[in-house]
Amino acid sequence: MDTIHSDALVFFGATGDLAYKQIFPALQAMVKRGHLNVPIIGVAKAGWNLDQLKARAKDSLEKHGGVDPVAWPKLSGLLRYIDGDYASDATFQALRKELNGAKHPTHYLAIPPMLFEEVVEQLMKSGCAEGARVVIEKPFGHDLATAQELNHILLRAFPESSIFRIDHYLGKAPVHNMVTFRFANTFMEPFWNRNYIDSVQITMAENFGVQGRGKFYDETGAIRDVIENHMFQVMCNLAMEPPARTDPESIRDEKVKVLKAIPPIEPKNLVRGQFKGYLQEPGVNPGSKVETFAVLQLEIDSWRWKGVPFYIRAGKNLPITCMEVVARLRKPPTPFRDTDLPPDYVRFRVSPETTIALGVSVVPPGEDEATRTIEMVASRHPSPKEMEPYERLLGDAMAGDATEFARQDYVEEAWRIVDPMLKADTPVYVYESGTWGPAEAAKIQPPDGGWQNPTGADEDTSRLAKHVG
Ligand code: BG6
Repeated sequence: MDTIHSDALVFFGATGDLAYKQIFPALQAMVKRGHLNVPIIGVAKAGWNLDQLKARAKDSLEKHGGVDPVAWPKLSGLLRYIDGDYASDATFQALRKELNGAKHPTHYLAIPPMLFEEVVEQLMKSGCAEGARVVIEKPFGHDLATAQELNHILLRAFPESSIFRIDHYLGKAPVHNMVTFRFANTFMEPFWNRNYIDSVQITMAENFGVQGRGKFYDETGAIRDVIENHMFQVMCNLAMEPPARTDPESIRDEKVKVLKAIPPIEPKNLVRGQFKGYLQEPGVNPGSKVETFAVLQLEIDSWRWKGVPFYIRAGKNLPITCMEVVARLRKPPTPFRDTDLPPDYVRFRVSPETTIALGVSVVPPGEDEATRTIEMVASRHPSPKEMEPYERLLGDAMAGDATEFARQDYVEEAWRIVDPMLKADTPVYVYESGTWGPAEAAKIQPPDGGWQNPTGADEDTSRLAKHVG
């Protein structure tokens, strides 16, 4: 692993939405923690000057977490700005000058994917790519062919070890903690396999729509927007084997192995939906058949998982905002009269709270010997000290740690799995906002209880057990 720390951070798209919502707050947090003390050069074509960029940064901080009286002046002092067209050589000459001899800058492309090629070419031509790292945002291509093309473009200018593909779910502590929980506890391993697990379901529900991103969303849809990246990453953390070592490549090798064991998803194992009113969203094509909801089933044909169905479901305008995993165990051959016991399960809630819970059958005291499902809950709310994903990931990229970034082979395997169903032109069924998708979605659901829909907040962290049945 190349662990030289970057001596400058360049971010393209400095006047854009992502910078406003995520990057400035992340930069302030990095400065506050003492993790960032190098020139930060914003680049954009907005006709602005440095003072305008600083005003925008301050406004962003006011709206997203607050202006820190100590960190903000420091951040402001580190900020530089270059205004110019990405097509113009002069922009990159100015950047070269501003880099002032920095040997290992990190170039963060917080810009629409259609501009990647131009910027990468210009970085190469101007000499700014030499010794540098590049960070890019999803979506990495639109399908397998375009992902391969994009990788080809990036590899012309940067070695794979200097390319950092951001999937912000990998920057979330609970997503990482899933791996820790699996490999730090002896009791998990004996049952975490096809012999004991009956099915796994992963839900990513959002109780809001496309929030003014109609144009982007209509070119993307739920499968490309969150399933083949965020949700696959979560699935890999649940399904991967323990890595032989903890260096980035050993860990990423294990994730790629999970994807390699998944056959392409057949269109019959997919149901797509679109919330009522989507077609009226600004930027959406009339008659669009893009999905705002998808539910699918897949198999991981590995030694550990063969025969265990994995169910994935994501959607906009659902009843709640929550990401949750439920892994159901096989039922025991119970000798009790009451033979229809519900299966035990493990539940991981990734957001909005962090929960790890075990659902088990017990006879609660004083309740006429009837078995009930209770949950043993280990719950932890995100604390203010926890790093936000962008802070963690930008810091990792500048330090050259690629563990929590998607590698080229991973990205291509993910597209291989979803490509056939994306191209199959399956029907898209309309659903009412605030419901769990169209009625047709019931076709794809886990055995022995169907979907366990996430409910309201896991509010009480001090509680040890919660009745759910
Ligand atoms: C983004 C998607 O990558 O992730 C959005 O483009 C989605 O559509 C968002 O809402 C969800 O992220 P989080 O961290 O809010 O769960």
